[in-house]
Amino acid sequence: MRRFLIAGNWKMNCGPADAAELLEGLKENKAEVADEVDVLVCPPFVSLSMSVNYLHDTDIQVGAQNLHFEDNGAYTGEVSASMLVEAGCAYVIIGHSERREYFGETDETVNKKVKKALSADLVPVICCGETLDQRKAGDHFDLVKTQITAAFAGLSADEALDTVVAYEPIWAIGTGETASPEQAQEMHAHLRSVLADLYDEDTAEGIRILYGGSMKPGNAEELLGQKDVDGGLIGGASLKADSFAEVITIAEKLSA
Ligand code: 13P
Repeated sequence: MRRFLIAGNWKMNCGPADAAELLEGLKENKAEVADEVDVLVCPPFVSLSMSVNYLHDTDIQVGAQNLHFEDNGAYTGEVSASMLVEAGCAYVIIGHSERREYFGETDETVNKKVKKALSADLVPVICCGETLDQRKAGDHFDLVKTQITAAFAGLSADEALDTVVAYEPIWAIGTGETASPEQAQEMHAHLRSVLADLYDEDTAEGIRILYGGSMKPGNAEELLGQKDVDGGLIGGASLKADSFAEVITIAEKLSA
């Protein structure tokens, strides 16, 4: 069984003061003693350093929500991989649907960013997922295959093993609507087979595939209970210490 990764994507929430409060709550909820589960929080850029400092005596890791694929230079408003490493990040979310929709992220920029993250020893959390219309049209399997094939272009099997994939159906993000456990498992198994075709079975088995889209304490057990669901990328429910800690506890129990 793969080790669960429970990740919180805070999106554009929690500057340093709110971040301190949320992390304090997480510590109180004892999420840091989740021995059997990897835990990650992804605050906005301005809260990264303080989050790393705040969590230094815990097992909770910190990741960013984006990076630029160039090393440095005249790219106003952007942040490089080495800057994230210097801030203490271990992970970086890449290609979230909100970045694809609002900030012009494409399969090509996702691929460049994945390569840059890996070259800096950051673990990329590579997002994919379909809209409701694409699902209704029956295009969802082909679409995520295209996204994942592009994201992994030029990566060796060893590099692929240093990545995490997140399946986030856009219709389930922030909507309160969740993929059913069967829908999640079906798509995760498909992603696993896409990765096996790109590499081999062992490599595909070694890559964690997270589910994201309204995951919360009330549905985490059945989603995480699916064979190919290796964790969660959690938005709304990661902004409350008790609900995020509860999901971690559920993952911990399922790992036992
Ligand atoms: P919600 O959990 O708020 O639906 O967000 C999911 C997500 O986009 C995580 O990256």
